[in-house]
Amino acid sequence: MGAALIGGMLKAEVVEAARCTATTRTETSAAALEKRFGILATAGGNREAAQLADIVILAVKPVNVPKVLREIGDVLRADQILISLAASLPVAVIESEVPLPMPVFRAMPNIPVILEEGAIGICHNAVATRAQREMVECLFRAVGVVAWVDDEQMDAVTALSGSGPAYVYIFIEAMIAAGLKMGLSRDISTRLAEQTVLGAAKHVRDSGLHPAILRDQVITPGGVTIAAIHELERHGLRSMLISAIETATQHSKKRTKALLEQLDTSNS
Ligand SMILES: NC(=O)c1ccc[n+]([C@@H]2O[C@H](COP(=O)([O-])OP(=O)(O)OC[C@H]3O[C@@H](n4cnc5c(N)ncnc54)[C@H](OP(=O)(O)O)[C@@H]3O)[C@@H](O)[C@H]2O)c1
Repeated sequence: MGAALIGGMLKAEVVEAARCTATTRTETSAAALEKRFGILATAGGNREAAQLADIVILAVKPVNVPKVLREIGDVLRADQILISLAASLPVAVIESEVPLPMPVFRAMPNIPVILEEGAIGICHNAVATRAQREMVECLFRAVGVVAWVDDEQMDAVTALSGSGPAYVYIFIEAMIAAGLKMGLSRDISTRLAEQTVLGAAKHVRDSGLHPAILRDQVITPGGVTIAAIHELERHGLRSMLISAIETATQHSKKRTKALLEQLDTSNS
């Protein structure tokens, strides 16, 4: 995820390669980042990088965030911006690991950020100013669409857009299978299914209309589309998706609780 963000931000020119430093755990990853992006990347150089940075982005696994914060804590400054990408780690927990009051942001990007088509939910602590918020929005707009939320809503964001690409992949996969079943070639089924999802999503976004209105526009009385929609409704597609996202939100809450317990245990 860290590499995806670096790629998007460099491509959108919101950050210059000469002003971007990445740190990793292993030399191999650092060398790969240097080669891929032409940036300075070092293994184990967290403190040095944090000391020189205006914006520090934490893209390590959630369980490693407190350890990295303890490592860089004494070089962080109140005029820097700290951004965590870690799932399940509330802003208050990140704040509690930082030895001084400073702007802390928590972002939940999804995997299409690698194509600059991500959906990113972001929240922040009370210290962050409007100017810092704008700066963070500018960074993440380079890789997708930004939605500002409260920290308590991050579990729902994780369930909706964080995990969302996986649901859409299943939808596309099923459409391809249906095309195959109806005798279309694999290539034609794939191209038609993927473009249908892409086009429909763009239509919703660009028209600003509720999807139900757009759906209604495609339906002709007694036609083919309503016959298919009847089947989808009969099998509960909508209700299934709502339940799936509700379950995923609850699961995300449980994961946060488990992570906090794990961090508590390792602290004591
Ligand atoms: N992947 C997603 O779709 C996604 C979506 C939303 C949020 N996130 C969040 O993004 C974060 C990263 O996830 P990921 O999937 O990208 O993980 P990942 O592939 O395991 O990458 C983690 C990176 O952190 C580096 N690292 C580990 N310990 C370090 C340390 N002590 N100091 C410096 N660097 C260290 C690793 O370096 P090495 O390569 O050298 O080991 C690796 O480059 C997680 O907190 C996750 O919750 C991920």
